[in-house]
Amino acid sequence: MFSLALSRRNAFSTVILFFFAAASVTIFRSWVRSKQYAHKYDAVDWKIADLDSRLPTNEHRRIEHISDDLTTADHCVFYNFLRSTDTETTDHEPITLALHSTINYAEHVIKHAENWDDVLSYAIFLFPRHDEALQALAMLHKCHDTVNRKVSIHLVWNRNFLIESCVSDNIVKNIATIPESLGSCDDFDIESFVEKLKEVKVPFGSYPINVMRNEARRGAATKLHIIGDIETQYSPAFAVNVRPLAQQLLNGYLGKAVLVYRRFELDENEKFPTNLRRFSNLLADKKIVQFHVKHYRVGHFIPNLQHWLQYSLNNDEVTFDNVSYISSEWEPQFIMRHDAPYHYEHVPTRMTDHQFLCYELCRAGYSYLLMTHVYNIHPGIKDGATPLEKSLGIYGLAQTDPTMRKFRAYINARYPIYQKSRCPNWKNYL
Ligand SMILES: *[C@@H]1O[C@H](CO)[C@@H](O)[C@H](O)[C@H]1NC(C)=O
Repeated sequence: MFSLALSRRNAFSTVILFFFAAASVTIFRSWVRSKQYAHKYDAVDWKIADLDSRLPTNEHRRIEHISDDLTTADHCVFYNFLRSTDTETTDHEPITLALHSTINYAEHVIKHAENWDDVLSYAIFLFPRHDEALQALAMLHKCHDTVNRKVSIHLVWNRNFLIESCVSDNIVKNIATIPESLGSCDDFDIESFVEKLKEVKVPFGSYPINVMRNEARRGAATKLHIIGDIETQYSPAFAVNVRPLAQQLLNGYLGKAVLVYRRFELDENEKFPTNLRRFSNLLADKKIVQFHVKHYRVGHFIPNLQHWLQYSLNNDEVTFDNVSYISSEWEPQFIMRHDAPYHYEHVPTRMTDHQFLCYELCRAGYSYLLMTHVYNIHPGIKDGATPLEKSLGIYGLAQTDPTMRKFRAYINARYPIYQKSRCPNWKNYL
């Protein structure tokens, strides 16, 4: 045999040679990548005409491996594990409510499906053995009419580093056939579904929040996205009320922009206000406060609340106010087009994860347009971080420096430095 013919010395030099060859390929590849990247800025610049070509094909169930890149972190996704069955075409572009959570929060998706007038894309992060609860989830999706029509569910997990491709991961073997092997809906009820979820144990570990936000967007079937928090609730007919504005955003009439909505917290003894009158009474009684205003004011405060309320109470037309982005700590939530930047995925959990997108939007030249009339409410008024959040926060902070250096390199390479002066400084990093 050939290998037997090799002397020891030859074998040694072959190994060295092979090593060099492999190293050069890697270096060459990353050089090519950096070259491609240098051109990216033109390619992502604002062009309405390109809109369709960039829409992901989300017709199918498919498994993808997202690898480490400038903005993405390595993980696996099963898109459309459960697919919305609504194929009705509409005369408007629906706004996809993009939700994400671990599986134990899945019951909240029922309420969202019932309240949200357009479609939903829900990304679930699976920890090991969480696939056991997927059977129950699949039953919900099959048997709950509204969830079935409106919600598409995607699964995200960390790739087993011993396995090259996501498709051959064991997890996939266990779950791929679930939707076909379900029992009859006669055996389904929501209470036992909720009970089943309570059995799920979520390990103390990091939840890759920006990956999850992105996967909920990547799995979306429409060109307008709104990323929501699974536990919160939107004002009635939110999607219908903002539809005219959202279509303008889509068609480019608002320029490069996102449509911001106000967020609040509600005293846990009060019922959700289903109209602006009741909302305004609760606000006057301090049973409603601006979201996290006690906990992290600079991150969430939006000025002119009274003016906003008076306009919204006394006018029918939903309009907007152009709000300036004055602090890199501000982290509003909004409706955006599918071609707006995605969240930076190389961020440790709780390290001000959403601020990375808000800052990037500023550098990319976006404006923040605050919509009147509509709101989003988080149940319970928060007055401080929980111990778990504090410890995760400290963990996040410890990684600030390397993360910020990496982000700075990315941002400054992608967006013209001369635009930097339009955006507030980010500590002394940016
Ligand atoms: C919002 O304000 C910015 C900065 O002044 C401006 O460039 C942009 O055109 C405004 N957008 C709208 C829709 O008025």
